[in-house]
Amino acid sequence: MNYRHAYHAGNHADVLKHMVLARLIEHLKKKDKAFRIIDLHAGIGVYDLNAEAAMRTGEWREGIGRFYDETGAPLALPEPAEALIEPWRTVVAAVNGEGVLRAYPGSPEFARQLMRKSDRLMLNELHPADFSSLRERYGRDRSVALTELDAAIAIKAQLPPPERRGLVLIDPPYEREDERNRALKALRDGLERFGTGVFCLWYPITGDGLSDALVDGVRAIQPPKSLNVELVVRAVVQEGGLAGSGLIIVNTPWMLDEEVAILLPALRDRLAQATEARTRMEWLRRD
Ligand SMILES: C[S@@+](CC[C@H](N)C(=O)[O-])C[C@H]1O[C@@H](n2cnc3c(N)ncnc32)[C@H](O)[C@@H]1O
Repeated sequence: MNYRHAYHAGNHADVLKHMVLARLIEHLKKKDKAFRIIDLHAGIGVYDLNAEAAMRTGEWREGIGRFYDETGAPLALPEPAEALIEPWRTVVAAVNGEGVLRAYPGSPEFARQLMRKSDRLMLNELHPADFSSLRERYGRDRSVALTELDAAIAIKAQLPPPERRGLVLIDPPYEREDERNRALKALRDGLERFGTGVFCLWYPITGDGLSDALVDGVRAIQPPKSLNVELVVRAVVQEGGLAGSGLIIVNTPWMLDEEVAILLPALRDRLAQATEARTRMEWLRRD
């Protein structure tokens, strides 16, 4: 396991993923009944943008960096997109306090801050050093449970959640050869145990064919109410790095597609690195 998210935190893919994650949590909060968020690849929770890893790649400058000016003042998206990202903004602001941007929250922090008292968060992370950072941050929090398992095992162990309502984030690093099949299997295993759950599966767009193959793989499974969302910030070429990213959402909450349709063009305009920047939203299955 070589992947460390600290090198990539706050990049364009994180921005898309966490804005959609925040919207998904807001939708879950529309009903009073408690829910559980299960983050299978949690990372460490909050990332220091001045740390050596973040400084070395500087990826965050082309992501979260485009949402603040040099004094730390927010650069708003045009309305109504800005109103939609308000929950995301609140969490970013909370880990930063006053002044210039110096930290970026990971998925555990978005979940923890946006969920309610009665909701629960399950964090899983396999990397021993990252797990230990995660435990340091959330270990004493009674709303949070932590496991250090392979996500393939965690998804079986954690589902269905006792609340029978919830969201499962599948966010693997795609560093292994078989990661596409592992991601598809995780989704299948998850749906078998928790057919009514909201699932959010992240994937990279790099020009190696993985993204199309993954989307086709999900299309073949035909999960209910599945929506595919993509944001590409530059030309997709082989060996050209992370040109874009996608999210497949299963059991998509009502109206989320309309929100994403507002957000995507605003994000393309804000995050574009070249004229080839583009977006895509399609239903893989509508019902
Ligand atoms: C893309 S990062 C997660 C970022 C995080 N979800 C966020 O949005 O802030 C992927 C994480 O998965 C962890 N990981 C890699 N293989 C894993 C596995 N088989 N099971 C669980 N976690 C794994 C990595 O150590 C890394 O922290």
